[in-house]
Amino acid sequence: MADFHSVYGAAPAGVWAAPGRVNLIGEHTDYNDGFVLPLALPHTVRAAARRRSDGLLRLYSEQGDGRVTELRVADLMPGRVEGWARYPAAVVWTLRAAGHEVGGADLWFDSDVPTGAGLSSSAALECAVATAYRDLYGLALSAPELALLAQRAENEFVGVPCGVMDQMASMCCREGGALLLDTRDLTRRQVPLDLNGQGLRLLVIDTRVKHDLADGAYAELRAGCERSAQLLGLRALRDLPYAGLKPALDRLPAELRPLVRHVVTENVRVEQAMALLDAGDPALLGPVLTAGHASLRDDFRVSCPETDLAADTAVRAGALGARMTGGGFGGSVLALVAAGALDAVAEAVTTAFADAGYARPRTFAATPSQGARRLV
Ligand code: GLA
Repeated sequence: MADFHSVYGAAPAGVWAAPGRVNLIGEHTDYNDGFVLPLALPHTVRAAARRRSDGLLRLYSEQGDGRVTELRVADLMPGRVEGWARYPAAVVWTLRAAGHEVGGADLWFDSDVPTGAGLSSSAALECAVATAYRDLYGLALSAPELALLAQRAENEFVGVPCGVMDQMASMCCREGGALLLDTRDLTRRQVPLDLNGQGLRLLVIDTRVKHDLADGAYAELRAGCERSAQLLGLRALRDLPYAGLKPALDRLPAELRPLVRHVVTENVRVEQAMALLDAGDPALLGPVLTAGHASLRDDFRVSCPETDLAADTAVRAGALGARMTGGGFGGSVLALVAAGALDAVAEAVTTAFADAGYARPRTFAATPSQGARRLV
């Protein structure tokens, strides 16, 4: 463990943290102008930082190879930076592209957000940098504005055409609640989620199957959704109400129908989840989550054998409901369980994975935590 001082020979100006997220419901809806309901994890990327006046951006990660990456801020260009350093570089490049006069910095990172697990470790990294830069350079930018910048960084510099959910979750979630977000206009509501008070837990199961959203599959799904909206004469699939689903499907080529069915029914599931939470009935969320998994598996086709096994086993072992969370193609499963069943469900999944010859999954209970913030 090398702290900021031992890497850069001076004290940082401050320390900032931004969390990963788990999405309760509303998957692959964000780039369709739809609704999402994520919560922030207690796991964060922490960034210690200080300004530099010579235009250099220096990056060091406790999870990296022990070396400092040195970049010239003025030379940053999409495609020119490799590996994890792309994410912080992307944020600095985007701030400048958006007209903010920011220069260099020394940045030191430490993270306990599992990477490649569908828990938004990259958004957490981007949002930690965005928040640190806001304070280092005195930028008058709100949390949603920083989230949009971080999303643009990922879209234009890293090259992943993601929606805005992960960055908004990392910036705007609050402790003790989930964030209901309308991804069209970014209106949002903090929704209290007192699971502990109701004897419930959210079990996260990281299947350890790594996905890579940059591999093109995500972009293809997004393009399929946008093409469907266009064929239906809609601004986005969010504008297709459930009542209009059947006739709309008849107008679409067969290969696009399941995508549209998922997005429309998933927006309905977010509404159902909200109604249950507003009524103080989080225990009834289970079937909504499980239906969401079936839709991602059968219609959107972004689950995989490991996420299917984790979700099915969790439910068979007594979970109230379970679904994959995040972009898919691996990553994590979320299970809603009674507190007393937490260990049994986690054990059942671990045993099922061993029996299937899969890597041992990592399991933990998620508590709704605070979004990006300055620590010191
Ligand atoms: C990834 C993307 C998000 C969202 C989810 C799927 O996490 O970064 O924008 O599309 O997949 O809901």
